[in-house]
Amino acid sequence: MKKNLVLLGPPGAGKGTLAQRLASEHGLLHLSTGDVLRDEVARATALGQRAKDYMDRGELVPDELILSMVKERVEGRSGILFDGFPRTLAQAEGLEKIAPIDAVIFLEVDKDTAVKRLSARRICPKCGAVYNLVTQPPKEDERCDRCGTKLIQRDDDKPEVIARRFEVYMRQSAPLARYYEEKGLLIRIDAGRSPEEVYAAALRALRDDRP
Ligand code: AP5
Repeated sequence: MKKNLVLLGPPGAGKGTLAQRLASEHGLLHLSTGDVLRDEVARATALGQRAKDYMDRGELVPDELILSMVKERVEGRSGILFDGFPRTLAQAEGLEKIAPIDAVIFLEVDKDTAVKRLSARRICPKCGAVYNLVTQPPKEDERCDRCGTKLIQRDDDKPEVIARRFEVYMRQSAPLARYYEEKGLLIRIDAGRSPEEVYAAALRALRDDRP
């Protein structure tokens, strides 16, 4: 698959979970702006230091920082799976100058389901694998199946930050569904189902152009 794809959806919709599998099974470059930012924060780079406060509050990092970070990583490449980007109209317009988009998968899930998923999420700080204590638990006592590292909870998965992330999503990112629908690129997927069902629905939609 040499398409450029965007994954859109609220916090906890399962963007990262779907992206990891789609990318590894179809040779796509997985670009999660959230993962890149967390790595920059962990390494205390100049970008990480500027981004940290926004992320801790559940706010969006300024568009110009995000756009230059994305451009640097994807310019001249194809077969990119954008996860969590774009998130504002300005980012969507900026993306048009960086890479042409073939399809936008919109993962739809209700807020209660998403909040439950985020509260039980654990991640591996070393390799980035994502788990869920309820739906996708690690085999051994909160340790990563791949590399054995002790799993952690993301700082922004605390209840008050989750609530803020939802408000920000509704105000700044949800309107992008309409933006891409008007361009004829939007594929709606019911993401309230199991990861296997979501993956199968996404594949079907990408192959047949129907959800
Ligand atoms: P980011 O990391 O992008 O967070 P997000 O969009 O809030 O999305 P999440 O990672 O929380 O959820 P997800 O949809 O990927 O779900 P996941 O697959 O992990 O961004 C974090 C912060 O960085 C932002 O708040 C902002 O500050 C900044 N930022 C990032 N990008 C930016 C941008 N473009 N512009 C400005 N700022 C930006 O799944 C969640 C849980 O559910 C997991 O435990 C998983 O195992 C489980 N799960 C997944 N799918 C299913 C399923 N189908 N059934 C049951 N459980 C499931």
